[in-house]
Amino acid sequence: MADVEIVEVGPRDGLQNIQKFIPNNVKADLIRRLVDAGFTRLELGSFVSPKAIPQMTGIEDVIAEVMPLPEGVRGMALVPNTIGAERAMKAGVTSLIFVISMSEAHNQSNVRRSVDASIEDLRTLLEQVDPAGRLTMRIGLATCFHCPFDGVMDEKQVLSTIEKIVALREGMDLTISDTTGMATPDHVKRLATRCLDAFGGSATFGFHGHDTAGFAIANILAAMEAGIRSFDTSVAGLGGCPFAPGATGNVASEDVVYLFQRLGLTTGIDLGKLIDAGTMILEASGVRHASHARAISRKRLFADLTGQRPAEGVMG
Ligand code: COA
Ligand code: ZN
Repeated sequence: MADVEIVEVGPRDGLQNIQKFIPNNVKADLIRRLVDAGFTRLELGSFVSPKAIPQMTGIEDVIAEVMPLPEGVRGMALVPNTIGAERAMKAGVTSLIFVISMSEAHNQSNVRRSVDASIEDLRTLLEQVDPAGRLTMRIGLATCFHCPFDGVMDEKQVLSTIEKIVALREGMDLTISDTTGMATPDHVKRLATRCLDAFGGSATFGFHGHDTAGFAIANILAAMEAGIRSFDTSVAGLGGCPFAPGATGNVASEDVVYLFQRLGLTTGIDLGKLIDAGTMILEASGVRHASHARAISRKRLFADLTGQRPAEGVMG
């Protein structure tokens, strides 16, 4: 059992914002490489409207290629509604992520309904699509800190929305998300502490950070200080919500693995294999440098941890 859990979101959050369509066999290759690198929980994609996110067209084919995943590996898929949940279950995915924004404006832009309507959709999903509780659900709490349209979020309002969600079912697993990557460490620590204090007895929390303002690593440390031990990260720092204008990629998995290794905490992730997976997807997607994903070009510096020394002259 690792000291901290790193949840890889690259195949979903990482790819959803890339304009060029990445062939589904390349997406499957990425997932296989990430599993081989040691992730035991990762996002495989999303069952959303192909009009909303063209990159996820044919996600069923990706899932079919990678299933079954090795014993002990949980592949998750994001769904925005019950249609998505039914598609995911038909494809054999039993771990779902349901996304709800804490801000009305972002929820409208993202899933075209009010926050309360999304909470009702989640209630329906839990009661009708999964009455026996066979699905593993994770709730992505988007825009917990900052909204691209409304600015800095009101903490009281965010907590009261989370309270409604937590009340839907015992044992909820939620991620406090900095969708725009504009949160600051003090805000992250405060909200994470309040969530754990108020709902930690009946729910678990992870942190999902983007790196637009460059505070993602500091925010992870702040979330850790509050007591959070599960962190969403994306290979090569790819990522971003197409409905959050201006936001950049997720915090790079490579950087977070490096950080935890240096802190003496086990992650279960092979940094060398992870860097190779990142190199592959950057080449395949044509994205040169995603966000703060400097890890790829630091492979030489990471040589002591990866056990791999790249050929001279290949680093940027
Ligand atoms: N998967 C595939 N198709 C879906 C779908 C799903 N999960 N949900 C709805 N649709 C289809 C409907 O069948 C309908 O099809 P039609 O036009 O052929 O009749 C069409 O989409 C419109 O349905 P409607 O319920 O009116 O949806 P909408 O247009 O209001 O869009 C969402 C709502 C939620 C489906 C769409 O906004 C979406 O997929 N958003 C995802 C956003 C996202 O992934 N953001 C990044 C992650 S946080
Ligand atoms: Zn995200």
